[in-house]
Amino acid sequence: MKTLLTGGAGYIGSHTAVAMLEAGHEVAVVDNYANSSAEAIARVEKITGKKVALYEADVADKERMMEILKAEMPDCIIHFAGLKAVGESVAMPVEYYRNNIDTTLTLLECMRELGLTSIVFSSSATVYGEDNVPPFTETAPKGMCTNPYGWTKWMQEQMLTDAAKASEKGEDWKTPLSVVLLRYFNPVGAHESGLIGEDPQGIPNNLMPYISQVAVGRRDHLTVFGDDYDTPDGTCRRDYIHVMDLAEGHVKAAEYAAEHKGTEVFNLGTGEPYSVLEMVKAFGRACGHDVAYEIGARRAGDVQDSWADASKAKAVLGWEASRGIDEICRDAWNWQSHNPQGYTK
Ligand code: NAD
Ligand code: UFG
Repeated sequence: MKTLLTGGAGYIGSHTAVAMLEAGHEVAVVDNYANSSAEAIARVEKITGKKVALYEADVADKERMMEILKAEMPDCIIHFAGLKAVGESVAMPVEYYRNNIDTTLTLLECMRELGLTSIVFSSSATVYGEDNVPPFTETAPKGMCTNPYGWTKWMQEQMLTDAAKASEKGEDWKTPLSVVLLRYFNPVGAHESGLIGEDPQGIPNNLMPYISQVAVGRRDHLTVFGDDYDTPDGTCRRDYIHVMDLAEGHVKAAEYAAEHKGTEVFNLGTGEPYSVLEMVKAFGRACGHDVAYEIGARRAGDVQDSWADASKAKAVLGWEASRGIDEICRDAWNWQSHNPQGYTK
């Protein structure tokens, strides 16, 4: 199968490129390097020994995307491209709505004009409402999002679902669309080679890259955002999923999308919650020394508990996560310790 990964030079996209190539599929990548570099794709080629067709372009640029998609005519598009920093989205909502919504609209217009049929979309557990009780099933209500980033995911899910519905009726569409919405829980870890991994710009927003940078000596200590939650150790619990498990989920989702029509949504998580302090301790085991931390105030917008009911992906896609937190921490540490400054060194 021919696949085109928008945002494929990014963290999840580059790992998915490896999984796709290893499953025997062809991969093209379109990225504008807003949050990544072409080096990630050079390393994907090194890991797999296979070539990736790489295009530098803005996915919102319709003229350019028409050229690229005409040249590639992929069987499936996997749409990772987007801005994803929750805090930044509060400060820069216009840029977030413009970029995230426009990329999806442009892809839908191009797909309609070219008769391309399947798209897999990177959504997030952030669409679930705060009132839902974990484990979240796909049918749990989508809630009020607490930030513009979350709303862009919510809206993109809706846009893709509506387009699939309209395409069934023909009209302007040459063929019915197949849309797969993947709601990721907390993607972490790195490819086991240590050649690719998460390379956040500036101060990391997320727990695992922050812990990794403390462990490698780039930062002094982690601040744990609150230890007064109603959980066994007082810290929030999340569903941390190894990025290679997530990547393999995309292979299954793209294969599924190529054979079905309409819209399907799947949680990609492990179903196993871990607290912030459990992750800090697990990382200490992996890197061989304690990770310094201090307890701070709660972070605005954090939910106490979030984990997946991942049984639908198992039943329908035949996929389930197989890597645990010790592998997650081992691989994150392998990447961080061999690339202390990320892709620049
Ligand atoms: P990332 O920032 O590493 O990757 C996104 C990629 O998209 C980057 O390479 C960036 O340069 C590119 N990009 C952004 N706007 C673009 C545009 N207009 N044209 C071309 N390229 C563009 O992020 P990631 O963690 O790999 O996330 C991938 C997707 O998964 C995103 O849509 C993100 O919102 C979603 N997601 C991520 C998480 C997470 O915790 N990492 C959780 C849920 C959902
Ligand atoms: N945390 C800390 N200190 C830090 C960073 C995080 O204690 O320096 C805590 C948070 O309070 C939270 C947990 O670690 O309890 C996980 O936080 P992350 O920021 O790593 O992840 P979130 O669950 O808040 O959010 C992530 C992505 C969102 C996505 C969501 C659901 O950042 O984009 O998962 O998929 F929407």
